[in-house]
Amino acid sequence: MNAPTLQGLTIQAPAYVKNAKLIAWVAEMAALCKPARIHWCDGSQEEYDQLCQQLVDAGTFKKLNPAKRPGSYLAWSDPSDVARVEDRTYICSEKKEDAGPTNNWMAPNEMRATLAPLFDGCMAGRTMYVVPFSMGPLGSPIAHVGVELSDSAYVAVNMKIMTRMGRAVYDVIGADGEFVPCMHTVGAPLAAGQKDETSWPCNAKTKYIVHYPETREIWSYGSGYGGNALLGKKCLALRIASTMGRDQGWLAEHMLILGVSNPEGKKYHVAAAFPSACGKTNFSMLVPPQAFDGWKVTTIGDDIAWIKPQADGSLRAINPEAGYFGVAPGTNYHTNPNCMASLNKDVIFTNVALTDDGDVWWEGMEKDTGVMPAHLIDWQGKDWTPEDGKAGRKAAHANARFTVAATNNPALDEAWDDPAGVKIDAFIFGGRRSTTVPLVTEARNWTEGVYMAATMGSETTAAAFGAQGVVRRDPFAMLPFMGYNMSDYFQHWLNLGAKISAQGAQLPRIYTTNWFRKNADGKFVWPGYGENMRVLKWMIDRIEGQAQGQETAFGIAPQYAEINWGGLDFSAEQFQNVTSIDKAAWIDELKLHDEHFAMLAQGLPRELLNAKADLEQRLSA
Ligand code: GTP
Ligand code: SPV
Ligand code: MN
Repeated sequence: MNAPTLQGLTIQAPAYVKNAKLIAWVAEMAALCKPARIHWCDGSQEEYDQLCQQLVDAGTFKKLNPAKRPGSYLAWSDPSDVARVEDRTYICSEKKEDAGPTNNWMAPNEMRATLAPLFDGCMAGRTMYVVPFSMGPLGSPIAHVGVELSDSAYVAVNMKIMTRMGRAVYDVIGADGEFVPCMHTVGAPLAAGQKDETSWPCNAKTKYIVHYPETREIWSYGSGYGGNALLGKKCLALRIASTMGRDQGWLAEHMLILGVSNPEGKKYHVAAAFPSACGKTNFSMLVPPQAFDGWKVTTIGDDIAWIKPQADGSLRAINPEAGYFGVAPGTNYHTNPNCMASLNKDVIFTNVALTDDGDVWWEGMEKDTGVMPAHLIDWQGKDWTPEDGKAGRKAAHANARFTVAATNNPALDEAWDDPAGVKIDAFIFGGRRSTTVPLVTEARNWTEGVYMAATMGSETTAAAFGAQGVVRRDPFAMLPFMGYNMSDYFQHWLNLGAKISAQGAQLPRIYTTNWFRKNADGKFVWPGYGENMRVLKWMIDRIEGQAQGQETAFGIAPQYAEINWGGLDFSAEQFQNVTSIDKAAWIDELKLHDEHFAMLAQGLPRELLNAKADLEQRLSA
């Protein structure tokens, strides 16, 4: 085959790449971005090792002490590039209404005109990596393939862990199969002959995370971090996939998926949506307390679920990812032993601290060792001692993360990779609320559940750039990840419920949770983590008709005696503290629902307004 060349750059694809559209697109993008070279990733272990070595040589990665943390690396990002940038994230649908009031929008033509000069020559001096990946098991009818072009080797190696990445993807797309084109650049071109001076190239001034839902394209400029740069994750598997789901009758959700088996071996599957840094990874790897002898929780996914209705009216879910990009701070053997075990080897850490013996450290690890390390290098490369900690300087960034393969998880569910997915028995929606929202309630019906999810509030976290601890509405934990109009999405959920009901099939139950209520001293009242099993068990008892619960204005709540308290000293009074519904607080909360619904007025389903009227009536009763 004749290799097309552009300004002396060889575009020739490996012989196993047969997709003419892909080759033409790579050539076109190379002509635009003008990289110094092109690397077609094959996804092999040798390639991964080579790229990691290259990142070590460039100063982006530090190889951790192989005796402590084999096969593992640490990256410190630019201090300006530590989280998703929601204010720079755009849904560029043809019509503004289709992006809806919760998304930043620009007309596609205008955005293309804005991005063209930025992408022109953006990869000068760098390598363009061609990263083929599958979200979902390779070749599965529910999977979708993407190809990311990126000038970041950090992105290439993270995508290898987070997705099914490599040569086999080319066999799936064959000569004329479809793929979602994902363009990514760190936005830091090098002048001719200039050597890269920074170990974490990014563009401190300009960032754009752009989605074109109609043409199903992603363009990301200026950031090398997580959800801004690993485009299979939030960009494809949520924002683009949510629009596919709307058109094709399925759901793309910011949900963990877990399996929970009782001592008799009966197994249930639960999908739970908590906003970023609100406990999905932890809940998906939960270790039940001792009093739950014989109960077992297994992980299918920790962040994203694709859920499809079946002919029999059941909902089956897959995890489109193959790895975890999880929050490090707060993770330890007390809170999440399965996660800690997952991190023993072959991990990429980002923005945690480095110990003097070449291992990693983050806030929360002192709970395991009982002491603070005497000295560390913090995530910004500066010396750190416990004195700095006392002065409030964190050694790890609050949004420091690990990237690790799902297969490292000792609690991995046997069906995690099953193309058929697992049948969902219950949905949970949970926010981070210091006040107002009770520990757990069950919706009386699907519409009430959709209402609860649609109006959910949560305190903002370090997972996104911006102020933290501010309560905002985060419907379905999808606010930052919706690819279309939020009200249309509510309608999509209601339609799905109506369709399944009309089939005479059983709908999954819907619950809300809040693990994060605080007392007057600002301490969490609920012990959380593994103790959340007590709540999960109550949900299963409800499904089995073994817990009567009690009616509240806000759904059905557990009675104190219905929770298994074995091994935990938690009094009825404490229980009252985490479950009480304060009328005055709820009247204020409902005003926030009003504002939220006023903002979402266009296309807002009438059923949700009715559900709100019912709630108000019960509150005033
Ligand atoms: P993303 O990856 O950003 O989507 O986050 P996530 O939803 O997977 O959250 P994760 O499980 O990583 O937890 C985020 C933070 O919340 C960590 O610091 C945890 O220690 C803390 N956390 C998780 N579960 C609980 C809980 O039950 N109670 C309390 N108090 N904290 C929790
Ligand atoms: C989140 O913020 O919800 C994450 C991390 O899971 S990121 O990949 O950056 O989106
Ligand atoms: Mn997430």
